[in-house]
Amino acid sequence: MTTVTGEPRIGDAFGEMIRDAYAVATGIGPRPLVGGRLPRPVIEIIERDDGLINGAPAAHYLDGPRDWQPYDHRAVDRVRGRTLDIGVGGGRIALHLQERGVPVTGLDTSAGALRVCRQRGVRDLVHGTVDAHAADDRRYDTFLLLGNNLGLIEGRERAPGFLAALAALARPGAQVIAHGTDPYGTSDAVHTGYHELNRRRGRLGGQLRLRLRYRELGTEWFDYLVCSVDELAELVHGSPWRLVDVDDGDHPYYLATLKLAA
Ligand SMILES: C[S@@+](CC[C@H](N)C(=O)[O-])C[C@H]1O[C@@H](n2cnc3c(N)ncnc32)[C@H](O)[C@@H]1O
Repeated sequence: MTTVTGEPRIGDAFGEMIRDAYAVATGIGPRPLVGGRLPRPVIEIIERDDGLINGAPAAHYLDGPRDWQPYDHRAVDRVRGRTLDIGVGGGRIALHLQERGVPVTGLDTSAGALRVCRQRGVRDLVHGTVDAHAADDRRYDTFLLLGNNLGLIEGRERAPGFLAALAALARPGAQVIAHGTDPYGTSDAVHTGYHELNRRRGRLGGQLRLRLRYRELGTEWFDYLVCSVDELAELVHGSPWRLVDVDDGDHPYYLATLKLAA
């Protein structure tokens, strides 16, 4: 029996969303329809723990290079050697690298996202977290955290473990190329108030507590970090990595490059 709580059922909300976005983009698989007839747009719903809700079209997760942001191009230009695309999503970056002959592995916690990657032709995929993957016998020269996925560093508590897992997966001389966003340029009181609230509860200002929703599904609440370059430098300090370059040509977005300390 269905119990009515108003709460989402916990499941692979990102995977189902990407599956539907892929169906809309390609006509492969059932497309979401309104009233069984008109196309329904596929929207990613992101809830923040202060009640803020944002929605954005999901189609960009499947974009080809022509529709990428300039920093995505600059990120892939920095790739060298065996590459792990962490949080591969719909596979837009991995697919492009694979076509350019780069040995690339896509890793994601969403089984549905990996299914879409496979359908699109990404050959090497791993289901799980970097921590679990560190136990496998695979080592990499480049780690990608694109599409704002520097966020996976989460905050002060998670950063040391996350960076250690990457180091365990790294070959000598390895690099991390991470896309981040400086959250502090805004004067929007909804955001500046949230940053203040976070600091009062001992978190970094841009340490977002989020969950994704898609149709009746939702994820568990998780932390996702949006941080300044100075905050990133602090988090990296004392880890096996050194922050060696920041490309902020598209401020407030930036690409941070970390190098494995010798
Ligand atoms: C914002 S999307 C970015 C997708 C892709 N990198 C891009 O640029 O289009 C975040 C992706 O990270 C995945 N993800 C979330 N938490 C993860 C984790 N702990 N480990 C690996 N992947 C994760 C999500 O399932 C999703 O595919």
